[in-house]
Amino acid sequence: MSAPPIDRAVPGLDAYLEEVEARLEQAVGRYPGLVADAGSEALSGGKRLRPLLVFLAAPIDRPPTVAAAVSIELVHMATLVHDDLIDGASLRHGRPPVWSAHGDQAAVTTGDYLFARAFAELATTGDVGAAAILAEAAVALSRGEALQRRQAYDPDTTIESYLERCALKTGKLFEAACKLAGGSGEFGLALGIAFQIADDILDCTGDAADTGKIPGTDLREGTPTLPLLLAAREDDVVRAALAGGPLEGALVRVAATSALEQSRKTALDYARRASEALDGTVRREELEALTHAAVDRTR
Ligand code: IPE
Ligand code: IPE
Ligand code: MG
Ligand code: MG
Repeated sequence: MSAPPIDRAVPGLDAYLEEVEARLEQAVGRYPGLVADAGSEALSGGKRLRPLLVFLAAPIDRPPTVAAAVSIELVHMATLVHDDLIDGASLRHGRPPVWSAHGDQAAVTTGDYLFARAFAELATTGDVGAAAILAEAAVALSRGEALQRRQAYDPDTTIESYLERCALKTGKLFEAACKLAGGSGEFGLALGIAFQIADDILDCTGDAADTGKIPGTDLREGTPTLPLLLAAREDDVVRAALAGGPLEGALVRVAATSALEQSRKTALDYARRASEALDGTVRREELEALTHAAVDRTR
């Protein structure tokens, strides 16, 4: 997010995030070598939105464990390392991703290592229920990536199945972050879907200097995101590009349709649903700020 969306003056937040940072480094550095180095590179530059969510989603009188945020963030980074390999992405956090810097095999192994370290961190708490929550999210992530593969280059992908993909690959990890904190999973799921729609808009309109990623990756990979699906309904050139045809000028044409504005409305709708799932036990004001920041962001 362009500016920290949440007031760092929230009591205990700064100290919590600092502890998370130190534990992340420790967790990744546990077995020194190439994967530890690559894992550490992958971690640097992330927004740490999920650890922030873990803290804010916890009941005010019951702060979350550091292990909860660390394990969620490690799973997230594991998926990004694998995702960049799958997407052939050439930039992450403004630098070459692991596959590009160290090779495909190193990326596969580094992602696996980060997944394993995530579960090892959570295991230190002895909380079997927490491990089950994280495992459910990890399964959803791989199902989401598999669904994305099946939907590739299909401009007739339904909005419904696109939203299912967002829930699986992004929403479920946000849901897990909230559940591990003892908060509302429903809030996290809706927030995660809003966040992914915003990411998909940024892939059409974003600036690499802000996002640290190259825009247009989704169109190039034939990934039918909401803005691309809606634009394809209005513009045959976009439709053909999404189906694997020439990309020339297609992204500019997306911006000329109503797809970006419509997509933003859908993201805002999920942000509103997230807010509606909040009750009085949590940091309502900060979590509501987070729902807005998830949609209106440049990075
Ligand atoms: C990127 O997540 C992947 C999506 C779910 C869209 P973030 O935008 O939170 O990535 P980092 O944590 O800042 O690297
Ligand atoms: C999110 O999808 C990736 C995962 C949840 C694994 P994207 O492919 O859109 O994420 P970015 O844009 O590469 O960060
Ligand atoms: Mg990607
Ligand atoms: Mg993206």
